[in-house]
Amino acid sequence: MKISTNYPITQGELEGRVVLVTGANRGFGRAMTLDLAKAGASVIMLGRDLGSLETTYDEVVDAGFKEPILYPLDLEGATPEHYQQLQADVLDSFGKLDGLIHNAGIIGTMMPIEQYDLKLWYSTMQINVNAPFMLTQCLIPALNKSADGRILFLSSSVGRDARAYWGAYGVSKFAIEGLSKTLSEELEKTNIKTNTLDPGRIRTKMRQIAYPAENVENNPTPESLAPAIVYLMSEKSKPLNGEQLTLES
Ligand SMILES: NC(=O)c1ccc[n+]([C@@H]2O[C@H](COP(=O)([O-])OP(=O)(O)OC[C@H]3O[C@@H](n4cnc5c(N)ncnc54)[C@H](OP(=O)(O)O)[C@@H]3O)[C@@H](O)[C@H]2O)c1
Repeated sequence: MKISTNYPITQGELEGRVVLVTGANRGFGRAMTLDLAKAGASVIMLGRDLGSLETTYDEVVDAGFKEPILYPLDLEGATPEHYQQLQADVLDSFGKLDGLIHNAGIIGTMMPIEQYDLKLWYSTMQINVNAPFMLTQCLIPALNKSADGRILFLSSSVGRDARAYWGAYGVSKFAIEGLSKTLSEELEKTNIKTNTLDPGRIRTKMRQIAYPAENVENNPTPESLAPAIVYLMSEKSKPLNGEQLTLES
């Protein structure tokens, strides 16, 4: 299903909603943080680099948007105890969570499976699959306290149709699609809606690593795509559950 990126953000439409974004410091996560805060959501900005988290925090505050919350955490090293602490912190501060956006990820390397570096395979699976699984598991109770909860996994075309040499990244996105679909069935009778989103090409560092020779100017900016994320966190997207979404640019 295609989602329009021309969603008109109304200031205050996400007022009272609490949304956690992983990888909120830069790239697509930064752009969605700005738009979610513009729409009035309290954004919990999770990332591993405090300096760039603070830079994005300053941008949000300087723009006069809803003040976000910084949550420094490295998803590669985080343990179930870190996620339990995160759940306790979210419930202490807000008493609920309305949106969980699994945006952080790494590309790994382009290589045949036969030669794929084992250490990089483990890192990619830890950040792209195991961390979203643990984070989701710990935060379902907080999402259950929302009247209208959302879990959104950032996926990719290579996680829906296999492509040679995309290695751990492609396999991790297939796993995310499976995790999302399973959750959407398990949570069907709750207020939590679970979907995946393939954003298509985005002008970010990840895209540059994957396609170093291409002209980046031809790729949509993260800012041009982020309004769709506000829609996906709003009550208007409530009917969507268990969908494989794609952005229409
Ligand atoms: N760009 C595209 O064309 C494209 C296409 C399809 C799907 N996607 C998906 O869209 C999402 C966002 O991608 P992007 O293009 O914005 O990528 P990006 O520019 O490379 O940003 C990735 C984000 O993930 C964070 N991250 C990586 N490892 C982490 C860790 N161990 N702990 C915490 N945070 C970590 C990064 O933080 P640091 O700054 O600390 O590294 C950064 O904030 C990803 O899930 C990606 O797979 C992107």
